[in-house]
Amino acid sequence: MAIQEKEGSGKVLLKDKHADYIASFEKNKESFEFYATEHFRMSGVYWGLTAMHLLGRLDVMDKDTILAWVLSCQREDGGFGGSERHDSHLLYTLSAVQILALYGALDRVNTDRILSYVSSLQQEDGSFAGDSWGEVDTRFSYCALSCCSLLGDLQAVNVPQAVSYIVSCHNIDGGFGCTAGNESHAGQVFCCVAALHIAGALDRLDRDLTCWWLCERQTKSGGLNGRPEKLQDVCYSWWCLTALSILDRLHWIDRDALSSFILQCQDEERGGISDRPDDMVDVFHTFFGIAGLSLLGLCDLEPIDPTYALPVDIVQTLVQKE
Ligand code: FPP
Ligand code: ZN
Repeated sequence: MAIQEKEGSGKVLLKDKHADYIASFEKNKESFEFYATEHFRMSGVYWGLTAMHLLGRLDVMDKDTILAWVLSCQREDGGFGGSERHDSHLLYTLSAVQILALYGALDRVNTDRILSYVSSLQQEDGSFAGDSWGEVDTRFSYCALSCCSLLGDLQAVNVPQAVSYIVSCHNIDGGFGCTAGNESHAGQVFCCVAALHIAGALDRLDRDLTCWWLCERQTKSGGLNGRPEKLQDVCYSWWCLTALSILDRLHWIDRDALSSFILQCQDEERGGISDRPDDMVDVFHTFFGIAGLSLLGLCDLEPIDPTYALPVDIVQTLVQKE
């Protein structure tokens, strides 16, 4: 039986139940949820597998079938779709690269084709479109830089221009928005801080100001929200904690209050973690809840890298630190 430690509220992380909940997705291909999540399945598989790794249970997943499926989602342009027959998108290209990295299988793809797809999406102002339809968002700047770095060729894109675009999305409150002039949002703060870290450009922001905005995201419940006046949500344990960790200010939030909030969001009967206590669980919040606890160093989980959202040992093998 897996170790199940008590943290904060006296609740335990139900590791076996969460592992069973994640593993059940593979087996339940007739369910409504399976069909409804088809368009972003590549990311769903990445969240599920990374959570299984953190729980020490990756070995129960069917590696060969998963890798064959990932490879079947690569399109002619070099990028990956969210599922078979779906068009390429940077979001799913990063998820595919992350799955291949997790399984040590990057040698099974032609990485030059992926790099050329990623660089084709960079715009003149340094921003990135998510796909050929042209929507620009700082999420895609992160996906592009993370992909190139994991594939060992950050210079496949114009890094100074990418940095300059990200800095143009930095707001006076210390946060970042999805495009220049847009409201600060913790998800975007993760993307921009992690992308600046990958680019070696963290000196372009005011650490204290950004971290004040981030630690003010903790509400009375102990959970974190994504913007002022919004409800707390387990996934923001990841979006905020990662940026605080990269900027060396993780201790600015109340760790016990946050861990106890995350543990209250578990479905104690069927496994899985939801956004808030008593809501429906999903793989996204299950992953980000477990990843948040790992970043806090709790519950005897495998350590996760806050910049690449992959196990620390995998990042150490793939990414050259300058
Ligand atoms: C909030 O989304 C989160 C974001 C805007 C950041 C998403 C970042 C990525 C997809 C990049 C890849 C991420 C990883 C971990 C490798 P939301 O739509 O839930 O926001 P809401 O709470 O405002 O609805
Ligand atoms: Zn959420």
